[in-house]
Amino acid sequence: MHAKITGLGHALPDHIVTNHDLAQVYDTSDEWITQRTGISQRRHSETETTGDLATRAAREALRMSGRESVSAVVLATATPDYRCPGTAPSVAAKLGLEDVPAFDVSAVCSGFVYALSVGASLVETGRFESVLVIGAETFSTILDPADRTTGAIFGDGAGALLLERSLTREPGTIGSATLGSNGNQADLIQIPGGGSAAAIAGADASPYFQMQGAAVFLDAVTRMEAAVRDVVDAEGWHLEDIDALVPHQANVRIINALAKQLDLPPEKAVVNIADLGNTSAASIPLALAQGSAAGRFQAGDRLILAAYGGGTTWGAIALTWPNFTSTTTAPSN
Ligand code: UT7
Repeated sequence: MHAKITGLGHALPDHIVTNHDLAQVYDTSDEWITQRTGISQRRHSETETTGDLATRAAREALRMSGRESVSAVVLATATPDYRCPGTAPSVAAKLGLEDVPAFDVSAVCSGFVYALSVGASLVETGRFESVLVIGAETFSTILDPADRTTGAIFGDGAGALLLERSLTREPGTIGSATLGSNGNQADLIQIPGGGSAAAIAGADASPYFQMQGAAVFLDAVTRMEAAVRDVVDAEGWHLEDIDALVPHQANVRIINALAKQLDLPPEKAVVNIADLGNTSAASIPLALAQGSAAGRFQAGDRLILAAYGGGTTWGAIALTWPNFTSTTTAPSN
């Protein structure tokens, strides 16, 4: 049994925050942000929660596949609507899928690769006929107003893929996956407050997202390179066979360094960070939606998704591009 992509959707909040806007808030500049990260603007949600954006993206994926229901919903997010319960059940309810299993996956910027691997496995076992896999974030809600570094990088958005059972390995099939973690590096990317650690320690810990950027940068390239090589080998492909590398959009310098390490022409890497910033678990499905709308992928193309994030966590997945009969609209809203 195989898991095949039959729908794709995305959702972006309307409010655009440019680097020039940020320079009014922080001691920063358009030049610094553009040169160090490749980001020109990002979206901040003013009215929609993570669950709202996830629901919108999922609706588009359902519409594209022509389905009204699925057997399960898996949502990757580090910015859930509530610390408890998970956000996926309320997304399922808003989609009119009250009784289906729905749960969150927490792997920060690797979240979508983790969720896609889990979602594909649910279908491949034969237990579930179809699974919605969503990555959705509102990082604007957890940014430290005093931290110009994270403030410059992160943005909000959501993307979704619909997976359905397939008996053959046709275009759109999810292939090999590799996932990993190193909890010894948990402090590299963290919200110190709000969890049991701070409560037990009685500590007055920050409720904001924190990141040790330089250390994360180096490890991200190393781990994603190894993960990509693993899945390419597992598929029996060669690196030169890859039509598109769709990495997590953390920093354009990380993406360029990854392509260089893999000896891939830089144009094979799909990059949408300039307009959206780092949308964490949403970045890969948003890049897929944008790439699809731009006609970047052909049916049967060999794609590798790769991500690195808090935990620390990382992973990569091989897939072939489906033969969509219709394409989603460009993510311009
Ligand atoms: O998505 C999950 C995984 N996340 C990532 O992969 C992010 C990985 N890290 C990065 O993308 C980069 O490390 C950053 C973009 C976060 C930072 O870039 P960097 O080139 O590593 O800069 P840095 O942290 O070494 O800081 C260099 C300087 C510092 O000033 P001093 O100490 O040299 O005087 C920072 O205070 O740049 C300063 N700086 C800024 N200056 C203007 C940091 N943020 C800003 C800013 N505007 N927004």
